[in-house]
Amino acid sequence: MAHEVRGVIARKKGEPVSLETIIVPDPGPGEALVRVQACGVCHTDLHYREGGINDDFPFLLGHEAAGIVEEVGVGVTDVAPGDFVILNWRAVCGQCRACSRGRPWYCFATHNATQKMTLADGTELSPALGIGAFAEKTLVAAGQCTKVDPAASPAAAGLLGCGIMAGIGAAINTGGVNRGDSVAVIGCGGVGNAAIAGARLAGAAKIIAVDIDDRKLQWARDFGATHTVNSSAADPVEAIRELTGGDGADVVVEAVGRPETYEQAFYARDLAGTVVLVGVPTPDMRIDLPLLDVFGRGGALKSSWYGDCLPSRDFPMLIDLYKQGRLDLDGFVSETIGLDDVEAAFGKMHRGEVLRSVVML
Ligand code: APR
Ligand code: ZN
Ligand code: ZN
Repeated sequence: MAHEVRGVIARKKGEPVSLETIIVPDPGPGEALVRVQACGVCHTDLHYREGGINDDFPFLLGHEAAGIVEEVGVGVTDVAPGDFVILNWRAVCGQCRACSRGRPWYCFATHNATQKMTLADGTELSPALGIGAFAEKTLVAAGQCTKVDPAASPAAAGLLGCGIMAGIGAAINTGGVNRGDSVAVIGCGGVGNAAIAGARLAGAAKIIAVDIDDRKLQWARDFGATHTVNSSAADPVEAIRELTGGDGADVVVEAVGRPETYEQAFYARDLAGTVVLVGVPTPDMRIDLPLLDVFGRGGALKSSWYGDCLPSRDFPMLIDLYKQGRLDLDGFVSETIGLDDVEAAFGKMHRGEVLRSVVML
């Protein structure tokens, strides 16, 4: 029997979202029906609404979520009804070249539920990132569910489903921050502050936070930054070099997604340092670097998709650290809101007033 619930829909490009009745089918083979408990508001939801991802309107938004598995389809063995799970947007295929070479975080053959959720009139919905969790219930592939300790708060757990995992993973998985390293993070929104938290977990000795907004730099201190630089007042490259004895940082995480901040990251790293791009650029953006400068520096230039995470490895581990008080996931929850507040939350996100707004159901 299908399930009639409420969901946040983007019907047309650029128009405010609306709360509507949607129909969620029973799970088919390999699928899971999840009762959503919490779902964070992420930039990507706004990009969908703005038509920046594709034109497959209407979208069911929301993808940074945790909840309880309510029903599973035939053949599902990894999760069962009653399990507390974090949803992920990369359920790896296990068979592609990346998967078979042991680098599943580069798997782009990921799968989602094959049955469609619809509006009440039967119009098929495109769930954001194959999830669609600004809804009381959603349908996903069972591989998109990772079981974690139910003692974690849903609001905190859901954050690992996207932006906060992306930031932590950018530092730990992609950047490979080691004990004693110096780390600089450019852009201290939710993602950048998560990179700071990740660098602290990894034992970085110096963590330099860079932003143009002093509020963000205050939050950065709370998450573990040892130094802060307001880059509208000071040249961040010089400041980072000065704070690292003239060398530059071992790992620089760029969490804005703009050419000028990427360039800062490039020059703020130690000659053998690593630059990690986790901010998502738009298609029109270009960088222009002297090739001699690329040649003259060793190290690595990397991008980080979803923090190069492996949900089955990273989600339970980070929830353990959270429960032990070693990772402040609650600190990222600036406000909890209802399903009808998503549009207002987009405004707050756009104005930089929040790290994360989280819809509670
Ligand atoms: N220099 C330094 N910081 C900047 C600059 C700049 N030129 N421009 C903007 N910022 C800061 C903002 O003040 C803000 O604190 O970058 C931060 C961006 O944070 P958010 O808007 O909260 O975005 P967040 O959710 O952290 O995501 C950052 O990562 O995953 C991607 O799509 C996401 O591209 C986005 C980026
Ligand atoms: Zn694969
Ligand atoms: Zn996201």
